[in-house]
This record gives sequence, C-alpha cells and structure tokens, in this order.
Amino acid sequence: MRSNIASVVKHRAALFALSAAFILLGGIGPALASEESVDRATKLALELDIHRDAGARLFATHCASCHGVKAQGDGVMAVPSLAAQRFRYLVRQLADFAGDQRESRAMHRVLAKSAVKNPQNWVDVAGFLNALAPTQDAMTGSGANAALGRGIFHEQCSSCHGLDAHGDREGFVPSLRNQHYSYLAAQINKLAEGRRHNVDENLVRFLQTFGSRDVDGLADYLSRQHTPVRRYKLMRNDGTVVD
Ligand code: HEC
Ligand code: HEC
Repeated sequence: MRSNIASVVKHRAALFALSAAFILLGGIGPALASEESVDRATKLALELDIHRDAGARLFATHCASCHGVKAQGDGVMAVPSLAAQRFRYLVRQLADFAGDQRESRAMHRVLAKSAVKNPQNWVDVAGFLNALAPTQDAMTGSGANAALGRGIFHEQCSSCHGLDAHGDREGFVPSLRNQHYSYLAAQINKLAEGRRHNVDENLVRFLQTFGSRDVDGLADYLSRQHTPVRRYKLMRNDGTVVD
C-alpha cells in the first residue's frame, strides 16, 4: 500500500513538473492580456535575425554601466551577470521588463529609450550576451547552508534547470550558474512573492514552500557552480541552430 501511495505522489510530481514546464513555455492556461502581448512580442523577436555587432555597441552604450563591461554583473548591488545566459530567456526577460511584467525601475528606464525598446534591439543584445564567456568570480554566500542547497537543488530544481544548472535545451529556463549569490537569493524571493508576473503560478506556489535557510543554501550552492560545461548552441524559433 505504502509503495502505491509513494508512486502516486511521484507520478503527480512528475505530472506537475511536466505541466508546469508546458505552461511556462506558453502552452496553455488563461493569460492576462498584457502577458499575451508580451508573449507575442517575444515570439516575434525570436524570428528576427541577430546582429551581434549592433548588440555589442548597444550593450557598451546602454548596459555596461550597471552590468559591467564583460556583463559580469555586480554582486554587492545584486545586479545580475548576463554573460553566457540563455538567448531565449534573455529575450523573454527584456520583453517582460518592457511590457511591465517584471519589476525594476532601472530596467524600465533603460527599455524606454528609443535605441533599446524594439524587439530587434533585444535580439541583438541577447545574441551578443549569449556568446560571451561566463563570469568566473560570482559572489558566493557564507557556505553555511550550501550543502542543504545542493540537496534541494538536485531533488527539486534540476528537473527544469538541468543537473548542472545550465538551463533547459530550449533556453526559456535560465542558467543559474556563474551568477551572484545576492541576485539569486533576491530573485528566488521575488519569484515566490509573485513580483515577476509572467511566471506560472504553480512555480510561484512551489517556491513559496522554501524557508530563508533553504533560499540562502540554494543561492549559495548555485553561486559556486562555475566549472566549465559544454555550451548549448543557440537555437532559433524554428528549431534551427545558430553558432
Ligand atoms: C541602471 C542600471 C541598469 C542598466 C543601465 C541596465 N540594467 Fe539590466 N538590470 C539591472 C538590475 C538592477 C537588474 C535586476 C532587476 C531585478 O531585481 O529583477 C537587471 C536585470 C536585467 C536582466 C534580467 C537578468 C536575469 O537573469 O533575469 C536582463 C536580461 C538585463 N538586465 C539586461 C539589460 C540590458 C540588455 C541592458 C542595456 C540595454 C541593461 N540591462 C541595462 C540594472 C540595469
Ligand atoms: C517547472 C520548472 C521549474 C522548476 C521546478 C524550477 N524552476 Fe526556476 N525557473 C523556471 C523558469 C521557466 C524560470 C524563468 C521564469 C521567467 O521567465 O521569468 C525560472 C527562473 C528561476 C530563477 C531566476 C533566474 C534569473 O536569472 O533571474 C531562479 C533564481 C530560479 N528559477 C531558481 C529555482 C530554484 C532554486 C528551484 C528549485 C527550488 C527552481 N528554480 C525550480 C522553471 C523552473
């Protein structure tokens, strides 16, 4: 009897993970009008050609002052590293900020500029960032709960984010590697508080189940993941791979 219950729970968990991933990728579920328009903008952007040189210029002029010249971010200020982040994820976040689906006064101000507000600009800069070498010296936590975080990550998060935390193959689930402790901890809390609006509510509820020690441990463990991994190629909307 016991093993039956366990397998039902396991099955339900697998179904949750599957359906959550499906919803997150824009499969089903009632979406707010604004979420729909942001998803449309993302889809449109992903069909455009990428101009990495234009992206590099745009980054140097409008982004490097906060995110750093190598897009390494700033641990003390909780500004994220963007170097080598997944292409599709980056495009989607820029669309989310531009469409007020994700909070950040700094990013809203940047994305209101005429040189940054078009989907072509997002694709160019995301293509540039995706091809950069990952940040090597992300800020870590104290180490006190890192082992706890490792256990939770492998049991509860790696099904979506990958065993090495490098994100999923399609690129909508972000890499959590080479990222600052401060930013990771802040975002787990923001996601749990529902302050990133274009995110599946099952994921939000799931992240609410973690306490502050868990969040500290998860962010700490992830901030220490910086050994080299095989890079995913950049994948376009139609499934073709760009190098
Ligand atoms: C004034 C400072 C500032 C500038 C300039 C700036 N950013 Fe940001 N950016 C931030 C901060 C702070 C965050 C974290 C927001 C949060 O807390 O959710 C962020 C977050 C992001 C994220 C989300 C990363 C993730 O892992 O989800 C992306 C993508 C991004 N910025 C891209 C850019 C690009 C591209 C530019 C230039 C066009 C830019 N930023 C300019 C401060 C800035
Ligand atoms: C069902 C799949 C799924 C599971 C399980 C999952 N995530 Fe995520 N996670 C996502 C997706 C998709 C996003 C991107 C959301 C968006 O587009 O804003 C994300 C975003 C994040 C971010 C924000 C990254 C950034 O750069 O801003 C963090 C941090 C994160 N997840 C941590 C975790 C942790 C820790 C766990 C386990 C406790 C976990 N996730 C479990 C799918 C998942």
